[in-house]
Amino acid sequence: MAEPVLEIRDLKKTFGALKATDGVSLDLMPGEIHALIGPNGAGKSTLIHQLSGSFRPDSGTITFLGQDIAGLDMAARARLGLGRSFQISSLAQEFSALRNVMLAVQARQGTSFRFFRPVMSDKSLTEPAMAMLKRVGLAERAHVPAAELSHGERRQLEIAIALALGPKAFLFDEPMAGMGPEGSKALTKFLDGLRQQAPILLVEHDMDAVFALADRISVLVYGRVIATGTVDDIRNDPEVRRAYLGEAA
Ligand SMILES: Nc1ncnc2c1ncn2[C@@H]1O[C@H](COP(=O)(O)OP(=O)(O)O)[C@@H](O)[C@H]1O
Ligand SMILES: [Mg+2]
Repeated sequence: MAEPVLEIRDLKKTFGALKATDGVSLDLMPGEIHALIGPNGAGKSTLIHQLSGSFRPDSGTITFLGQDIAGLDMAARARLGLGRSFQISSLAQEFSALRNVMLAVQARQGTSFRFFRPVMSDKSLTEPAMAMLKRVGLAERAHVPAAELSHGERRQLEIAIALALGPKAFLFDEPMAGMGPEGSKALTKFLDGLRQQAPILLVEHDMDAVFALADRISVLVYGRVIATGTVDDIRNDPEVRRAYLGEAA
């Protein structure tokens, strides 16, 4: 059997008396979309933060491509190829969509001397950045400042930035949030193709998207994984229905 790209073992994180992550073990396998679902406050975002490096776990291990990354900071994890959809606040608001992606291309190339060149005419930056914008369907908005993009367009831009960093795994925390039905449909189609480039750990509330995309689903409740399985396994699991799916039905 193939090795997991990302292997999480017995991860724990408390906030005071609250066990936000209570012994989570989970694998992200090559080529898969592994959806993580669960009620509000279950600890999904807290888990993603520990994987990306913005929160430090209390205990447990995170192995990425065979390397223990629990002690590395966010930038080091990103350099190893752990891509996450960026929070809107990390966009340079006054810069165009294209320029934002170019910054990511530049970060990946690691060439700060480029600052001394006329950046916007540097084809080694503009061409890959434009290609990323095309892939997420934002090419026509390339020259619009990030601040003037719609909410959905910003989410698309965040994904273009994540792509530009050349990730070997993606962490997405509710990428459909705030998108209309058209946007969600387009993003679902896009994520479907993206799994060929790198596997995706996908936190998402939109169950249509989850059921359409997930190779496997893990259900998180009160910081614990109560079930992992295929879409059918999860839909038919009585404990899951009681703890989570039932509440929406
Ligand atoms: N920085 C923090 N400090 C204290 N409590 C937090 C912090 N972040 C999250 N929590 C708490 O941890 C629990 C899990 O939150 P979160 O991971 O955001 O859940 P989810 O993403 O599944 O909705 C919640 O009870 C939340 O209030
Ligand atoms: Mg959350």
